[in-house]
Amino acid sequence: MSFPKNFYWGGATAANQCEGAYNVDGRGLAKTDVTTAGTATKPRGITYRLPSGETGIAPMFTPYPKDAKGVVLDEHYYPNHNAIDFYHHYKEDIALFAEMGFKIFRMSISWSRIFPNGIEDKPNQKGIEFYRNIFKELKKYNIEPLVTISHYDTPLYLEEELGGWKNRQLISLFDRYTEVLFNEFKGLVKYWLTFNEINSLLMFKDFMPNMSSEDIAKNYQSLHNQLVASARAVKRAHSIDPQYQVGCMMAGACSYPLTCNPADVLRNQKKMQDNFYYCGDVMVRGEYPVFAKRLWEEDNVKLECTEEDIKNLKEGKVDFFTFSYYSTTCTSADESIAKDGLGNFSLGSKNPYIEYSEWGWGMDPIGLRYYLNEIYNRYEIPVMVVENGLGAIDELTEDKKVHDPYRVEYLREHIKAMEGALEDGVDLIAYTPWGCIDLISASTGEMKKRYGFIYVDLDNEGNGTMKRYKKDSFDWYKKVIATNGADLD
Ligand code: BG6
Repeated sequence: MSFPKNFYWGGATAANQCEGAYNVDGRGLAKTDVTTAGTATKPRGITYRLPSGETGIAPMFTPYPKDAKGVVLDEHYYPNHNAIDFYHHYKEDIALFAEMGFKIFRMSISWSRIFPNGIEDKPNQKGIEFYRNIFKELKKYNIEPLVTISHYDTPLYLEEELGGWKNRQLISLFDRYTEVLFNEFKGLVKYWLTFNEINSLLMFKDFMPNMSSEDIAKNYQSLHNQLVASARAVKRAHSIDPQYQVGCMMAGACSYPLTCNPADVLRNQKKMQDNFYYCGDVMVRGEYPVFAKRLWEEDNVKLECTEEDIKNLKEGKVDFFTFSYYSTTCTSADESIAKDGLGNFSLGSKNPYIEYSEWGWGMDPIGLRYYLNEIYNRYEIPVMVVENGLGAIDELTEDKKVHDPYRVEYLREHIKAMEGALEDGVDLIAYTPWGCIDLISASTGEMKKRYGFIYVDLDNEGNGTMKRYKKDSFDWYKKVIATNGADLD
């Protein structure tokens, strides 16, 4: 058994983590532009100014003071401002992706490049032009774009002046944004994803155990508004171009019971429902699952959900299912057991049977086969793994080589797991490992947490030539693609 003939091998990026050019050609600000760098143990900071003129910095994910506005301050370094300058290097980078044999490239559109504040009547033509050029460049090499419409970069204006996604007005602003994209890029794009890791809004409850009940309720409402906006986008895409395929994108929140104690098993079942299936069910089946009621009661949430919303959700079911997969965690009903197992937006107990990366994320290739089966047997629509990879410290040797056997090992085992899932009958159609070219880490803002097949000469403080170098994994992945996954050595 091997990968299907037309399997989409590729790689994935996101605008704010690679484009740079944060204030070029009319682009407006996003939260990431006022976010400093952190480390595995020190959170990134958001810099702000109060009406009094006083400035400050608040840890990422905690609300900054009321009335404060996010600002860029001279004394700080903001890694996303220049990132790896994909804005000016895209031709060179796409040529390297083509050399590896990519069939698909996942990227995102920066909303504030198209509508700088999110509220303008007319889109920014220079932003549209930039993405059209990228799509044309990809077409030259027969690389299919897979485009995320919103990847953690809502225009800052919308967050600050309108209160972000908890405000229903964003639904209609997103309508306008997606209408522009679907019309402008007709014939150039086939596959779209609406919101990156949409379920992360609920995963925050585990990830940030001290969240206030007010913030939790706010997240439920923001998520509901995004789910409605997403469903409306699916319907709109199909009406603009019946060729369009629109998928959901979820953070792969896979967890296991820590023991076979039935209390742990039940607790874990709930965790999977709350963190993953809550969103998946709405997006694939078009309505909230039965357990949503239990969840709203537990969290004392009164969701504002209109008849029209219910209709929208029903009419905007996604065509395919995608998710990121980095790690798994374990769940215990015993609150005294340490939550020391980290992962992507997840917190759980450590699993003694798996290994952990330098950033403490659990590595679990077998879990990917398990999870693919769970997802496909529940939803029965085509599946893509659109993020996966190992964030590691790489060394550029004097002769400009990067020897990264650890990355090859990680990816190889995950590809084997996907092969297993194909044997199980899962309709897996694409694999786009994360950060196919090194880029800025979303959680820490570091450059040294690298995922790529292509090394970018840039350090944590923004020093470097931005030159691109092929790592050993580049040649390995090229061979994997050329043999359609048959040669993984
Ligand atoms: C996912 C995001 O959460 O994980 C990406 O969709 C992110 O944007 C990726 O970069 C890896 O996380 P990190 O923190 O290592 O960059």
